[in-house]
Amino acid sequence: MTELARIGVTGLAVMGRNLARNLARHGHPVAVHNRSYSRTKELVEEFGHEGTFFPAETAEQFVASLERPRRLVIMVKAGGPTDAVIDEFAPLLEPGDMIVDGGNAHFADTRRREAALRERGIHFVGAGISGGEEGALHGPSIMPGGSPESYEALGPLLEDISAKVDGVPCCTHVGPDGAGHFVKMVHNGIEYADMQLIAEAYDLLRRGAGMEPGEIAEVFRGWNEGRLGSYLIEITAEVLAHTDAATGKPFVDVVTDQAEQKGTGRWTVQIALDLGVPVSGIAEAVFARSLSGDAGLRTAARELPGPSGALAEPAYSLVADVEQALYASKIVAYAQGFNQIQAGSAEYGWSIDPGAMSTIWRGGCIIRAKFLDRIKQAYDAAPNLPSLLVDEYFLDAVRGAQDAWRRVVVTATQLGIPAPGFSSALAYYDGLRAERLPAALVQGQRDFFGAHTYRRVDREGAFHVLWGGDRSEVAS
Ligand SMILES: NC(=O)c1ccc[n+]([C@@H]2O[C@H](COP(=O)([O-])OP(=O)(O)OC[C@H]3O[C@@H](n4cnc5c(N)ncnc54)[C@H](OP(=O)(O)O)[C@@H]3O)[C@@H](O)[C@H]2O)c1
Repeated sequence: MTELARIGVTGLAVMGRNLARNLARHGHPVAVHNRSYSRTKELVEEFGHEGTFFPAETAEQFVASLERPRRLVIMVKAGGPTDAVIDEFAPLLEPGDMIVDGGNAHFADTRRREAALRERGIHFVGAGISGGEEGALHGPSIMPGGSPESYEALGPLLEDISAKVDGVPCCTHVGPDGAGHFVKMVHNGIEYADMQLIAEAYDLLRRGAGMEPGEIAEVFRGWNEGRLGSYLIEITAEVLAHTDAATGKPFVDVVTDQAEQKGTGRWTVQIALDLGVPVSGIAEAVFARSLSGDAGLRTAARELPGPSGALAEPAYSLVADVEQALYASKIVAYAQGFNQIQAGSAEYGWSIDPGAMSTIWRGGCIIRAKFLDRIKQAYDAAPNLPSLLVDEYFLDAVRGAQDAWRRVVVTATQLGIPAPGFSSALAYYDGLRAERLPAALVQGQRDFFGAHTYRRVDREGAFHVLWGGDRSEVAS
């Protein structure tokens, strides 16, 4: 009998190519295909020795080289290209076959595609894959959705090529239909928030404490040894320590200060608005990128008055305070992201286990961090935890950090250094712990102009004040 490929990958740009190599390196014969054949040829020429590849020039050849039930991974540009590839391959497949979309699809698209393909008996698995091109090659974090049956056939393969932490694969079945891509979206949203907080910490040390990028890199290296230890802190130190070869200046000083975005952070916030979950840390991060990118507005507003200058006192106290503020704000950002996962899970009936998500984010992905172990412990102890902030460990951490956190927000405000991540995280924290919020006044305003009614603290029911009349209260 001719040997067949165990799995196939179509779309061989950086991600698909490295994922195919990862599969081959793990001993899985892999069929490879790309719209333009040159990429397929290049892959086999360059890396053919790494395992068993079945290069295919046409969709028909590709499908014919797969063992049944067929497992086909799509790694193309999200959106229209994914639909085009599905339309090309689905007619060639049979009931029981599986299509995995490893791209950054919007989970609503994944739900639509899953439902359409289910009608034809084809399993569609939206799988979030994080870790960039290095992760795809050496072990990403994989977040597959789709049916439990499809996970039975795909899970062992995906777990095999995923990152491992303490021998545990960074891959698990997230939940049905779009659950995997939803969780990947929130992962990216948290990544935005985490990066923004780190950037604010840098800005405070640079402009507030007057430190040079090289010195700040050392601070980040130190932090990476402690509770903040994470991939993002580690690479921040690398970036800050880097010198531009052409000018001899710190690399960070020759890069344009306009952050770009591909859209997953924006989607996270859009969906959070629909679900009514305050993900202020992620929203501030998305808006901070938008503000940075609006060069015209920034030029027009450059002369706005305000303080600018460094602290008079020694830097060391600010460094220690910023570490505390960063940790506390990071806890808030993750707490908000996990609340969004819980809300999405409830809305779509996905039964996502938040502890399992923190487990598969411990390695391979961009937000991998020491403290994900703590998050896992928190959800293991209380699967329905209303917020990470009320878990004993995180509560203690924030209790210990909060004086410094408040000082950092005050210092940033006084120096005129924007710290929307730190300050919005603190506002969220104070909002949660407030005994009374001014929302009572908002309800009064809503009743005044729109007769929207309000509820009372002392009686059941909805009420309205006759604002335009004798201002008596009526039950509505
Ligand atoms: N790059 C990352 O770090 C990263 C991380 C996680 C997830 N992702 C996601 O992974 C997916 C792949 O990313 P990537 O960076 O490797 O590639 P990409 O630049 O997003 O896409 C390029 C690939 O898509 C194919 N393609 C585009 N339009 C097509 C169409 N209409 N029909 C068939 N094929 C089409 C291209 O084929 P041709 O060669 O013929 O042009 C090429 O193989 C994306 O969804 C991306 O968002 C990327």
